[in-house]
Amino acid sequence: MAQRLTVLYNKKPCYDIVFNQCFDGLTKELAKLETAGRRLCIVTDSNVDNLYGEELKELLMGNCAKVCKYVFPAGEESKNLDVVKKVYEFLIEENFDRKDMLVALGGGVVGDLTGFVAATYLRGIDFVQVPTTLLAQTDSSVGGKTGVDFDGYKNMVGAFKMPRLVYINPNVLGTLDDRQFFSGFAEVMKYGLIKDSIFYEWLIENMYEICERDMVVLEEMLMRSCAVKKLVVEKDPTEQGERALLNLGHTIGHAVEKAKNFELLHGECVALGTVAAAYISWKKEMLTMEEYYEIRDMYVPFYLPISVEGIDPQEILRLTKSDKKMDGGSIKFILLKGIGKAVVDKNVTDEEILAAVREIYFSEEDERA
Ligand code: GLY
Repeated sequence: MAQRLTVLYNKKPCYDIVFNQCFDGLTKELAKLETAGRRLCIVTDSNVDNLYGEELKELLMGNCAKVCKYVFPAGEESKNLDVVKKVYEFLIEENFDRKDMLVALGGGVVGDLTGFVAATYLRGIDFVQVPTTLLAQTDSSVGGKTGVDFDGYKNMVGAFKMPRLVYINPNVLGTLDDRQFFSGFAEVMKYGLIKDSIFYEWLIENMYEICERDMVVLEEMLMRSCAVKKLVVEKDPTEQGERALLNLGHTIGHAVEKAKNFELLHGECVALGTVAAAYISWKKEMLTMEEYYEIRDMYVPFYLPISVEGIDPQEILRLTKSDKKMDGGSIKFILLKGIGKAVVDKNVTDEEILAAVREIYFSEEDERA
C-alpha cells in the first residue's frame, strides 16, 4: 500500500511525496497530474538508465502523448551548464512546449539538474522527482532546490522550483552500491541531529537493520526523514531562516568535497563536516564532550569517514569562505545545542574553523609520531 505525505507551499497543498514498493503506482499518480496529451521526457544518468530507464519508459507510455528519454554520463562531473544546454537542445528537437513535463529518474545530480532545466526551459515547465538513491530519497528530491555546480563550486547556479510529485520506491535501494547507500545515511543522521532526538535514538536502535537494508525499517526511516524535511521546507521554502539548519555539516563538507576534487561522495563530506561542526559546538560548550564523541562515533558503523587525509586546513578555511552559505561577509555555520537542536551561528572564528578541520584531518605524519 502506498503511503504519502503532502507538502504545503504558502500553507496550501503543493505536491505529494508517495512511498510505494514498486514503480507501477507512478502511472496512477501521474494520471492525477493530467498527463494525458502531454509529452514526458525522462532525464536520467547512464547508471540508472541501465537499471530502470526502459522499465519506466514503457510504464509511462500509456499515460501521455509521448515519452522520450535523455541520458547523460553518471557522476558529479555532469552537474554543469553544458549538460543543461544539451537537455535544452534535446527538448527543442522533441518540440517540448510549456505543458510538457520532465521526469527526473536518479540520484541528487539528476534531480537537481533536471529541476533546474524545468525551472528555466520556456520560463518553467512541470517536473516530477523519481529519486533512486538514499540521499535523493531523503533530502534532495524534497523542497524544490535545483541547480548545478559552476567552476567547481557546488550548486552555485540554481533556482527554487517545486516538483509536482516525488515518487519514492524504497526497493531500488537494494541495488545501490554500499558506498552510495551509506553516503546517503549522512543526510538521514542530519535530521535526527538538527530536529528530532527521538529519531536519532531510533537510528541507533535500528542500526543493524539499516545496515542490512531491512525494507520495513528503511521505509520507516525514509518516511521519518521526509517528515522532518517537509516540516522545515514548509516553514521556510526559500531558505530565509530555518531551512539553513538543513546545511548542518555542509559548510566544511562542501569545502572538503571541492578540495578533494569530488573524489569523496557528498554524504561522506557531510559526515566529515558534521563531525567538524559538532567539534566546534563542543568547544563553544554547546555540546558536552560525551555528546561530541557519540555523534562522531555514530558514523563509524555506517562506514562513513570521521577523518580525511590529503587536505590543507588553510585551503579548507579559504573554501568555506567562498561557499554560498555566507551572509554579509560572515559564514552561516550550523552548530548543535544538544542532539536534536541545531542553531545558526555567524560568529565562528577562523581559529575555531581551523581547529575543527585539524580534528578531522588525518595525517600520516601524526600517525607515525
Ligand atoms: N539539502 C538542503 C535543503 O534542501 O535545503
